Amino acid sequence: MSSIEYKNDILTVEGVPLTTIAKEIGTPSYVYSKAEFTGSLNAFQAAFTGTSHLVCYSVKVNANLALLRLAAERGVGADIVSGGELFKALRAGISPDKIVFSGVGKKAAEMREALEANILMFNVESAEEMRLLARVAGEMNRRTKISLRINPDVDPRTHPYISTGMKENKFGLSREEALPVFAEAAQSPHLEVVGVDCHIGSQLTETEPFIEAAERLKKLVLDLRAAGHDIRYLDLGGGLGIRYKDEAPPSPADYASGLKKVLGDVPGLTMVLEPGRYLVGNSGVLLTEVLYNKANGDKHFVITDVAMNDLIRPSLYGAYHGVLPVKKTGETPLTVDVVGPICESSDFMAKDHPLQPVAGGDLLAVMSAGAYGFTMSSNYNARPRAAEVLVDGGHFTVVKPRETYEDLVRGE
Ligand code: LLP
Repeated sequence: MSSIEYKNDILTVEGVPLTTIAKEIGTPSYVYSKAEFTGSLNAFQAAFTGTSHLVCYSVKVNANLALLRLAAERGVGADIVSGGELFKALRAGISPDKIVFSGVGKKAAEMREALEANILMFNVESAEEMRLLARVAGEMNRRTKISLRINPDVDPRTHPYISTGMKENKFGLSREEALPVFAEAAQSPHLEVVGVDCHIGSQLTETEPFIEAAERLKKLVLDLRAAGHDIRYLDLGGGLGIRYKDEAPPSPADYASGLKKVLGDVPGLTMVLEPGRYLVGNSGVLLTEVLYNKANGDKHFVITDVAMNDLIRPSLYGAYHGVLPVKKTGETPLTVDVVGPICESSDFMAKDHPLQPVAGGDLLAVMSAGAYGFTMSSNYNARPRAAEVLVDGGHFTVVKPRETYEDLVRGE
C-alpha cells in the first residue's frame, strides 16, 4: 500500500494531512515520504540478493541530503556526474568506495576531487577523457579503476531526450571504438581497467531493452577477458521506470531476475546498478495552492502557485503528472489545464486533465514528483525555490527551507 493516500477524503503522506503541511510550511512545497523511499530502496536491494552487486543511487534524481543520508545508512553507494554531486554524496556519508563517476564531460578539477576522495571508479566515456584521467592520476601519483561506457545501440523505447544508448546519442563508445581504448588504457600505469558500463535510458517500462543491453555487454566482458583484461564489474546504469499514469513497468524483482538470467553464469562479476527514478519518483508530491480559475472560450485554466521553474518535466518532456485535489469533494470533474504564474505558454503541470471544481485557496498535489523535480528546478522569473519536507511516520521535517528573496540576490 502506498504511503501517499486519501484518508477521510484528505490526501495524506504517512498519515499526515497535506493540509497541515501547507498550513505550516506554505506552498509550493515538495513533500517526500521516508517510508516510500526506504521501501523502494529495500525492494531494489532485495531483488539482487544472491548475486554480487552494488546499488549506486543516482544522485541527480533527488540530491537532498536527507534522502542521501537514508541511502547511506542502508549501505547504498552513489552514481555521480559532477564535483557537486561528489561533495553532496560524501557530505551525506556515502562511502567513497561505493561511488562511481559517470558523465561525458568530467573536468580535470572534478577528476582530482574524485581521486582525492578515493572513489570506486570512473565510468569513462571517450578516449580523450581516458587520456586526461591517466594524466591527472599520474600527476597525483595515483592509480584508479575505470570502466568504459559502451553505447550498446539498443532502443529503450522511451522519450528521445532520455534515450541514451542509441548510436545517435552522445553517450559512451561503440564496441568497435571501445576496443582500442581498452587496449590503450591497459598500458597506463595509472589506470586499472576493471569494468564495462552502460546506461541506455530512463523511464523504461519493459525488461527487454535491459536484457538486450546486458547480453551485448556480457559478450564484450567475455571477449575482453579473453584478451587479457581483468573485467570484474558490469555497470548496467539506471532506467527502471515507474507508474505516472497507466504504465506497467517491471518490478525490481522481474528486472533483477532478467539480468541474473543473462549474467548469472559469469564468474567473478559484480553487477553495478544506478537506479534513480524508481527509488524516489513515487515517494514525493509537489504541494500547491490554487490562485484563480479562468476561462478562455472552451478552455478552463486552473492557475496555481507552482510553475515550470519548480517542476519542468511537463514543459520539457511533455511528461504526465497526475494532479489531485488535497480535499476530495466527489463533485463531477471538469477538464482543465493546470498552469502556473510564469510568462510562457509552456508553463503547465497538466493539460486537459480531469479535476473537481476548485477555488482560490484550495490545495492540489502534483503526483510522482520525487524524481527530477527539485533537482531540475530554477529561479526563473525570480521565484524562490520551493521548500522540501520529509515525512516520517506522523512527523514532518523541513529538509530544505523555501528560498528567500535574499537568496535570490546572494553573490550578485
Ligand atoms: N545512470 C546514468 C549514467 C544516468 O545518466 C541516469 C539518468 C541514471 C543512472 C538514472 O536513471 P533513472 O534510474 O533515474 O532512470 N530528467 C529526465 C531524466 C534524465 C535521465 C538522465 N540520466 C526526466 O525527468 O525524466
